[in-house]
Amino acid sequence: MAWVEVAKTDDVEEGKVLAVSAANKMIALYRIDGAFYATSDVCTHAFALLSDGYLDGDCIECPIHQALFHVPTGEVRSEPATEPLETYPTKVEGNALLIDVSAES
Ligand code: FES
Repeated sequence: MAWVEVAKTDDVEEGKVLAVSAANKMIALYRIDGAFYATSDVCTHAFALLSDGYLDGDCIECPIHQALFHVPTGEVRSEPATEPLETYPTKVEGNALLIDVSAES
């Protein structure tokens, strides 16, 4: 386990995506129905930042070719991407949001 603080919980707004970096990784943070999630911020199809994309419920749409990923699991829900996103466990301590950067799914 390698938990690192990546944001304050208030920084991650419901329905929006916050880009951060931790452990030399580009990470996207989400708050969906009050729960926090973290995925790689980089699309697995080509280079695009999902934090520039469109959050639709619990899925994030890539801004370049509109691949759709399920945020909680990283699964591809719509091509052209075929590889899932890395996801990272999250936890809240006080008003801090932490992710486990040693865990890659
Ligand atoms: S770069 Fe994301 S779908 Fe192509």
